[in-house]
Amino acid sequence: MARCLSFVNFKGGVGKTSLAVNIAAYLAQSKGRKTLLVDMDPQSNASQWLLQFKLWQKLNEKPEHTVYAIFLDKDHNVGQNLIQAPVKKADGQIIIGKLDVLPSCFKLMDLEHEYRERPGVPYYHHFYHHIGIFFPHYEYIIFDCPPNLYRGSTCAIFASDEIYVPCNPDRMSYTGFSYLIRKLQQLRSNLNMTVANIGTRNPAQVRGVIMNDGNPRANYTVIYEEFEILIARLRQEAPEVLAADFRIIEPMVRSYEDARKYAYMEKPVTIKRGPLAEDYREVAEYIDALD
Ligand SMILES: Nc1ncnc2c1ncn2[C@@H]1O[C@H](COP(=O)(O)OP(=O)(O)OP(=O)(O)O)[C@@H](O)[C@H]1O
Ligand SMILES: [Mg+2]
Repeated sequence: MARCLSFVNFKGGVGKTSLAVNIAAYLAQSKGRKTLLVDMDPQSNASQWLLQFKLWQKLNEKPEHTVYAIFLDKDHNVGQNLIQAPVKKADGQIIIGKLDVLPSCFKLMDLEHEYRERPGVPYYHHFYHHIGIFFPHYEYIIFDCPPNLYRGSTCAIFASDEIYVPCNPDRMSYTGFSYLIRKLQQLRSNLNMTVANIGTRNPAQVRGVIMNDGNPRANYTVIYEEFEILIARLRQEAPEVLAADFRIIEPMVRSYEDARKYAYMEKPVTIKRGPLAEDYREVAEYIDALD
């Protein structure tokens, strides 16, 4: 059964997609873990990155061929929408055989206001029933979430066992973090955790903060110290939200132009060696070593 991880932060541009893409790619390529990346963001950045823009553009015109199929009136089989091993060389040779993608589309934005729940079935239960078909076939399912905590993120969080919070090493990030934990606490108490025909889910816990996009030459000691004080307080105020082994994951992922360059090349950074690939490797190894 897959370990399901969500990369969540309502703050935009902190590195959710870069981390989801590269950690998924590393786990699949270097650790040999069968991995599915589910793009839950209507911006579709992970899909554009991994599928190549042209293929994604075609899918974007047909939402029934993306993750959005789950929310369409007709019962589409979302299993057919998997893009298997999309990371390839120009000649079509597969680079990462164990990484599949369930793509997103702009239309996923309408999940917020157009999708009507079926009587007695909350939207996130509906999602869980459909996404659950993938669970037995993967070791990891990684959800790249949009920069909000609306329906798309709620579906991903509900289906996940673990949450990772990408942050930047700045004050805005850590003030946002305490609000995020309170929102997750609220979400836990509002969600109906018992799914018809499946059983009761254990709510996902936050297992780590991943500091991203830090200047390799800067000293962030003060920010880390303040963050640790905040975390100690949150452990008291929201103990159920933070996992017992929660921590700020080491190392911080440093800021390198490769993040943008490889997204433009439509390849994960981790397919080649380099300092940024090395940071992603260490974070992925840390996550993989957790039970
Ligand atoms: N370690 C890094 N070094 C340099 N640039 C980075 C790094 N990580 C991310 N970036 C850049 O920062 C921008 C935002 O990153 P990304 O898209 O991963 O964030 P996000 O949290 O997914 O954003 P959104 O909230 O819009 O979904 C991108 O241009 C990306 O290339
Ligand atoms: Mg993103």
